[in-house]
Amino acid sequence: MIELAASILAADFAHLADEVALVEQGGATILHVDVMDGHFVPNITFGPPVVKALRPITRLPLDCHMMVEDPDNFIADFAEAGADMMSVHQEVCRHLHRTLQQIIHHGMLPAVVINPATPVDTLVEVLPMLHHVLVMSVNPGFGGQKFLPLALDKIAHLAELREEMGLNFRIEVDGGVAHDTVAQVVEAGADMLVAGSAIFSPGKTEQNAVEFLKIARAAAPAQVV
Ligand code: DX5
Ligand code: ZN
Repeated sequence: MIELAASILAADFAHLADEVALVEQGGATILHVDVMDGHFVPNITFGPPVVKALRPITRLPLDCHMMVEDPDNFIADFAEAGADMMSVHQEVCRHLHRTLQQIIHHGMLPAVVINPATPVDTLVEVLPMLHHVLVMSVNPGFGGQKFLPLALDKIAHLAELREEMGLNFRIEVDGGVAHDTVAQVVEAGADMLVAGSAIFSPGKTEQNAVEFLKIARAAAPAQVV
């Protein structure tokens, strides 16, 4: 199934509940929450209190993308706050398998994120544990960056591995995914589509989401729409 994971990084934080309602009306079925610590990436965003505040105002799953140096330290707090999915960066997890076990133990769906420079093959051993793999199509840290086409081959490679290994993890893509780039990422094999700046815009948010999903679904093979 093709899904829009709306990235609240691009929302109007003074009206977050209204912004969430608009993307939900526009067809988003996941809320993507970009957690940044000012160390792994040069920016700071949200912590567990924001997840806790979002939890009662939406039924959408909260997909926490952990751009932090030590994700292990935050697993319990985010789970308790109401996170549904947690993705950790391959680049910071010295004991990736153990971190994923902890995410599962705390009742969240586990995922691994790879930066543009990180090869897909670093994940082969953990693929059977994953709910999804998140392929970065920008270097993480900021919204509104330009899509890096190198992500397309990585998405296709993951889709091949999934087939060869008989697995069913999903493929998420994040960064510069917009109305003019989404068809390519869907054709390559992604089905969880993170988008922030392409969606949130005063007066246009709901319509942006509707149109984005229309383009994405038109590009998908029949069995995944
Ligand atoms: C970037 C974040 C993204 C960001 C995407 O580090 O991980 O989720 O919100 O923003 P856009 O869709 O504007 O590229
Ligand atoms: Zn993200």
